[in-house]
Amino acid sequence: MAVGKTTAELARYQAGEELLDLCGPLGMPTHVDCVGKVVLVGGGFGVAPLFPVARAFKAAGNAVTVVMGARSKDLLIYEREMQGVADKVSITTDDGSRGVKGIVTAALKQEIESNGADLVMTVGPAIMMKFVSETTRPFGVKTMVSLNPIMLDGTGMCGGCRVSVAGVTKFACLDGPEFDGHEVDWDQLMNRQKTYKNEEKESFEAWKQRHEGMLGKERQPVCE
Ligand code: FES
Repeated sequence: MAVGKTTAELARYQAGEELLDLCGPLGMPTHVDCVGKVVLVGGGFGVAPLFPVARAFKAAGNAVTVVMGARSKDLLIYEREMQGVADKVSITTDDGSRGVKGIVTAALKQEIESNGADLVMTVGPAIMMKFVSETTRPFGVKTMVSLNPIMLDGTGMCGGCRVSVAGVTKFACLDGPEFDGHEVDWDQLMNRQKTYKNEEKESFEAWKQRHEGMLGKERQPVCE
């Protein structure tokens, strides 16, 4: 989904084309253990990184439930893959075009009330992860979140990705991206994510002008 300059550029790549460089893996790997019942909550694009996590928790002997949501059925991804790995998959869409009409937190609450959970992990927009954490807090279920602050170098040098967790400054790229969702300062994270909103918009507009008519069309070589 092209939502800005970089994703618009990436969206024009065809299968088989190459990116010059890719840096990774960075940060800390997901801690996978046999804890009993794991509920994975994915929102939109966040479902994709949860797929290998679901596979790993299942292989470690856990019962795995996946709660996945999107605005509409066209934006749901990895449904088939998750069905192939998880013991149970619950789907929600904002418009009710697939699964239950509503948001993932309602489905998560129902799941915990009915079947309990030993661990919840979530990946998706910050606002969704915040409310997933608030949903699990009264139940006392440990909740790991995958944070997505602005990142520049990804190696701990710029400090752009700093987040406050339990009152301590952490670098998401180095110490994370996964943290205890009950300890994250969500308001600070979401404020910092907006830091360059204007510049991002200007950059995308300028890019669209430079490549007028090319969005959604086959990619042509561009010399700048
Ligand atoms: S992205 Fe620069 S320190 Fe994390």
